[in-house]
Amino acid sequence: MSPFADTHVHLLAGLDDGPPTVDVAVAMCRMLVKEGARYATALAHQNPDYPDNIADRLRSSASALVATLADKKIPLSVHPTGEVMLSPNTFDEWKAGKLLSVGDHKQWLLVEMPHGDFVDVLPLLEALKPEGVRLIIAHAERYSELLDDPALTSKWIEAGCLIQVTARALAEPWDPQMEAGLKRWAKGGFIHLFGSDGHGIDRRRPILEAGFRRLTKWIGRSHATQIASVWGSAVLEGKPLTVPHPRPLNRSWFTRLFGN
Ligand SMILES: [Fe+2]
Repeated sequence: MSPFADTHVHLLAGLDDGPPTVDVAVAMCRMLVKEGARYATALAHQNPDYPDNIADRLRSSASALVATLADKKIPLSVHPTGEVMLSPNTFDEWKAGKLLSVGDHKQWLLVEMPHGDFVDVLPLLEALKPEGVRLIIAHAERYSELLDDPALTSKWIEAGCLIQVTARALAEPWDPQMEAGLKRWAKGGFIHLFGSDGHGIDRRRPILEAGFRRLTKWIGRSHATQIASVWGSAVLEGKPLTVPHPRPLNRSWFTRLFGN
């Protein structure tokens, strides 16, 4: 089986609401290896709650984790990454070098919505285009504005976004509407990456395998492997990646969603 790539896991000890200590971070890495992962983000939040988390701080913490994992012979390749909360200042902060792209490759920025809000990412995508940077929508299943609107999701993908979903949400969706939305995304080719959004070993553990099984059930092993392994490892390693366009929207979705 191809090793999984966890494109969303908090592993930088003491930098955010993820692992409080290096020991917990290492335990999370061991868990990920058991889950079948060989690639993971060494990620921390970059948002106003953690004003000290500028790119250099994340880079040096990730370097220390790389050394620890090598020392302990844990076969997990970790890649420094920021989880950037969108704000009107995102582009300026990127230009100022404060934000950390996925794997520090300056190709993809992992972004989440502001607390309790949903914003249009297209202006930022357009602004970042000359920089060669595109966006990954973190834990995209959280945003019903996207999940329930395949046309909008499609528009964002066509504009250069990748859609990341959380493995646990695939395995244990919060409600039937989320399950229906995720299934529709999966079958329509709207999902590109998955991640555990792991934060610790007691709560929000880094779980992947159950989500992969659900994806496999919905779309078959080959496509599930692209999402869980192939595309994720390409993004983390900074390799070029082109994903297929989502399938054309099926009229019956609209009928079911909007009744005409
Ligand atoms: Fe996160």
